[in-house]
Amino acid sequence: MTKDLRVNADRMLASFNQLALIGATGDGGVNRPTFSEAHLAARKWFREEIERSGLEFHTDGAGNHSAVLTCERSNAPTLLLGSHLDSVPKGGRFDGALGVMSALEVLRTVKENGIRLKVNLEAMDFTDEEGTHLSLFGSSAISGHMNPEDLKKPYSGRENFTAGLARAGLTEESLFTAKRPKESLAGYLEVHIEQGKRLERRGLNIGIVSAIVGYGSYRMSYIGRADHAGSSAMEDRLDAGQGVAAFILETRQSVLTKFPNCVANVGKLEFAPGASNIVPARADFLLEFRSPNEQQLAELDAALMKLAHAKAEQFGLQLTAEPLGRHTPSLMSDVMQQAFKDACDDVGLSSVVLPSGAIHDAQSLVDVCPVGMIFVPSVNGTSHSPFEITKWEDCVNGANVLLHATLRLGS
Ligand code: GLV
Ligand code: MN
Ligand code: MN
Repeated sequence: MTKDLRVNADRMLASFNQLALIGATGDGGVNRPTFSEAHLAARKWFREEIERSGLEFHTDGAGNHSAVLTCERSNAPTLLLGSHLDSVPKGGRFDGALGVMSALEVLRTVKENGIRLKVNLEAMDFTDEEGTHLSLFGSSAISGHMNPEDLKKPYSGRENFTAGLARAGLTEESLFTAKRPKESLAGYLEVHIEQGKRLERRGLNIGIVSAIVGYGSYRMSYIGRADHAGSSAMEDRLDAGQGVAAFILETRQSVLTKFPNCVANVGKLEFAPGASNIVPARADFLLEFRSPNEQQLAELDAALMKLAHAKAEQFGLQLTAEPLGRHTPSLMSDVMQQAFKDACDDVGLSSVVLPSGAIHDAQSLVDVCPVGMIFVPSVNGTSHSPFEITKWEDCVNGANVLLHATLRLGS
């Protein structure tokens, strides 16, 4: 009988649409950076939605919020499901939210159908997946990977970070209490939008993730000299803007020609003092790069640092480069991939195995418990944008595959 079981698509859509109103940007997107007013409102709404669903609400020292459905067996491990409710600045309404809403809907479906599983189920919203402050923050805390050194250099700066923690009722000490013992977790499953075009192009329903890329990031500065932008000769300038522009262009060439399957991005850049008539004395920027392969990630890191130094020398600049977040590439569990494949067959959906170029909470948990992840198609592959769309039918497909993988693993 459970083969025919499906999530309640109308109920899930109603929840999804309510959530999408929180921090809505008016163009289809949401703006919910971690610990912003909209993010805290989304978390409050999630707590109330859990309680309205008759599920137990749980939170921890890293601010992860979850719905819990306990089974009848004492000391049973927990099968964790989830994703994140924070967004990138002016992001889309599906990234992360779909995974949390799918997870909640699976618990509601299991509960209302009186299905007795051998595991507890928990549907989690992980804190700050997107890295407003620290990427994969909540999932790293749960897995015990939170590093006290990382807390000293959040992307947002110390002041914004500590103010955000205080707004959420958290402390730097409390973060370390979120760690879960390995034996308490039966596994972790996540549904996410693909954020690429592979499924759409091939007309497939579900992507079963084989591995998630590793990444590295740096806070960097070129330091030159402010000068009059009208009266100083071009050849006399120590222009930090020139250095960073050359670095960005050559980074692209280097990745394209020497690092297949890798990417690099300068996603934030500020000149100082910052006026049209002053030669930039400083260029402060954030660099991030990704690779599916550990050794290649290290080689890419070394090549980018060498290039950054070469550009400093060429333009007569000083360079500073402070390492920020770093994560090794992560393999998904064979058992979880098979459970998802079988679940696709149960629901009658097509699937393909593929790697993920985006980072996800799933990768934080790979050395704690078996981890699996699926993608549903993104229209035009667009994501981290208000124009991010996944057809509702595909969203429901993802939730149903999550449901059937959960039933297979938990029975
Ligand atoms: C998260 O969405 C990331 O890949 O940066
Ligand atoms: Mn994202
Ligand atoms: Mn995401």
